[in-house]
Amino acid sequence: MAQQSEYQEVLTFAISLAQQGGEVIRQAFDGQGLALNARVKADNPSDLVTAVDEYVETLVFGKIKERFPTHCLIGEETASGQPWKLTTDPTWIVDPVDGTTNFAQGFPFVAISIAFAVDRELVVGVVYNPILDELYSACQGHGAWLNQTRRLPLPSGVPKPLPPLSQCLFGFEHGSDRTHSVLSSRLGSLARLLEKTENGGAQVRGMRCVGSGALDMCLVARGSLDLYWEIGSHLWDIAAGTVIVREAGGMVVNGQGAFANPQAGIPKEPVDELAFDLMGRKYLAIRAAGSDPSADPTLGRTSMRQLASDALQYLEDIQVTRDGDPEN
Ligand code: IPD
Repeated sequence: MAQQSEYQEVLTFAISLAQQGGEVIRQAFDGQGLALNARVKADNPSDLVTAVDEYVETLVFGKIKERFPTHCLIGEETASGQPWKLTTDPTWIVDPVDGTTNFAQGFPFVAISIAFAVDRELVVGVVYNPILDELYSACQGHGAWLNQTRRLPLPSGVPKPLPPLSQCLFGFEHGSDRTHSVLSSRLGSLARLLEKTENGGAQVRGMRCVGSGALDMCLVARGSLDLYWEIGSHLWDIAAGTVIVREAGGMVVNGQGAFANPQAGIPKEPVDELAFDLMGRKYLAIRAAGSDPSADPTLGRTSMRQLASDALQYLEDIQVTRDGDPEN
């Protein structure tokens, strides 16, 4: 499968899967369907799983197997804690419930995330928040959409110029690793971004943490967040969002911070989106930047790389194992 028309068929199918899975999530969220039965994961008491996560993954995988029996499947609930591989074969990457803690707490930022990759390239992405009824979708080369009707970024599909870092709204997630060294590194990075410029900080305009990496990516695609950074999430959290951000004109690059890291050094050049390591678990997404139509059209992309590079100067790297490694 390599034809664009086939990707469109995959997109339509992925949207219907997201809607079916989303309905199960919505009913459970409203206390009308499956009981949540939330429990902590065996290896981490800060990481939750519910009966709905497992049910929705089984439901979605069953439907994919019926329609595309030869395709590979990677899902949070079956892959977590197991060795797994993203091969060149057509592969579905599913997070049945992204934002499980939100789901269990009744906080309405919950999504099902479904991506499709061929030759390790992400070509289709769908993220659906059934509580707010917001469906984000994208197919390579065909733009990104909200509820299939509104082209992203909002409000008009045309991006605004990017502001300097000090005027940005910065999205992040703290993740579920509560180790002291990881926490102090992460919070140090966030503090530097918030700190007054006169004290060496970036003094960003504000920070937001919505509790779902997939929805953070969609907020970047939408143009609501200027940036989103996370180290430690997994391919299934960001795969669909990556297609959506890119198709909205934005960029996803390695989120390996350059602050006080002798190995990484300070990037001398603006970051390179082609070097993005899908399995690296370090992500920085930048919203689309408009440029003056009379100016060089590549200027928008140059300003995205520059903003990414500026943000990375304040962010400290955190060591994580790569996705798919047996110890993950
Ligand atoms: C988590 C959420 C959270 C992020 C974690 C993810 P889950 O996904 O996206 O915002 O910080 O890294 O694992 O477990 O709710 O599907």
